[in-house]
Amino acid sequence: MKSKFTHRLLPLLFAMAPALVVAGDNPDNLEESRRIAQAFMQRLGGTLKQQLATAGPGGAIGVCKQVAPALAADYSRNGFLVSRVSLKTRNKTLGTPDAWERSMLEQFDRQQAQGSAPTEVNELTEDADGRWFRYLKAIPTQPMCLQCHGQPYDMAADVKTMLAREYPDDQATGYRAGDIRGAISIKRKLADAGE
Ligand code: HEC
Repeated sequence: MKSKFTHRLLPLLFAMAPALVVAGDNPDNLEESRRIAQAFMQRLGGTLKQQLATAGPGGAIGVCKQVAPALAADYSRNGFLVSRVSLKTRNKTLGTPDAWERSMLEQFDRQQAQGSAPTEVNELTEDADGRWFRYLKAIPTQPMCLQCHGQPYDMAADVKTMLAREYPDDQATGYRAGDIRGAISIKRKLADAGE
C-alpha cells in the first residue's frame, strides 16, 4: 500500500510542480525563506485536501508520511535546509526541534495562549558549526487537520489503527483548531565572519 501510493502520487506531484525560483549567490535569506515556506505549505495543503476528498483520511496518511518529507527535501536547495518540527511529534526522527526551534515553538504557544496569532520569527545564530540564518513559520491547526491530529475519539477507526501501527510513539493528537501544530523551519549557513 505504501509503495503503491508513492509510485502513483510522487511522480505526478513533481511533474506538475512549478520550478522553484531560486535566488542568486547572495539571496535575501528572509525573503527567500518566506517564499519557500509559503510554497511548501501551499503544495502540501493542496495535495492533502485533494487526497482527503478522494481517498479519505486513511488514504491521505501517505501524503503526510511520504510527500511531506519529500517536499522538504525538494525545497532544500541553494543552501536552504527545510524541515517540519513540532513540540509534540508524530515522527520524532524528522520532527524533533533543536534548542533554538524548541524555544521559538514555546514562544509561539505562549503568544497563542495570550490570544495573538504567531506567524514567523527569524534570527542570526552561532554554534560550533558556524553562523546561521534561522527562520521558523508557525503552522496553525486547521479543522481538516483534526481528522488525524484531533481528539482520538473524533478520529476514524481506520486512521487510529494505521497511526498506531506506523507511529507507536505518536504524540501529535489532542489538538484543537487554531492551536500551533508545529512550524516550517529553514536554516542557511552564513559565511564566517571576516571572509
Ligand atoms: C490523513 C492524516 C493527516 C492529516 C489530515 C494531517 N496530518 Fe499532519 N501528519 C500526519 C502524519 C502521518 C504525520 C507524520 C509524517 C512523517 O512520518 O513524517 C504528520 C506529521 C505532521 C507534522 C510534522 C511534525 C510531526 O508531528 O511529526 C506537522 C507539522 C503536521 N503533520 C501538520 C499538519 C497540519 C497543519 C495538518 C492540516 C493542514 C495536518 N498535519 C493534517 C497525518 C496527517
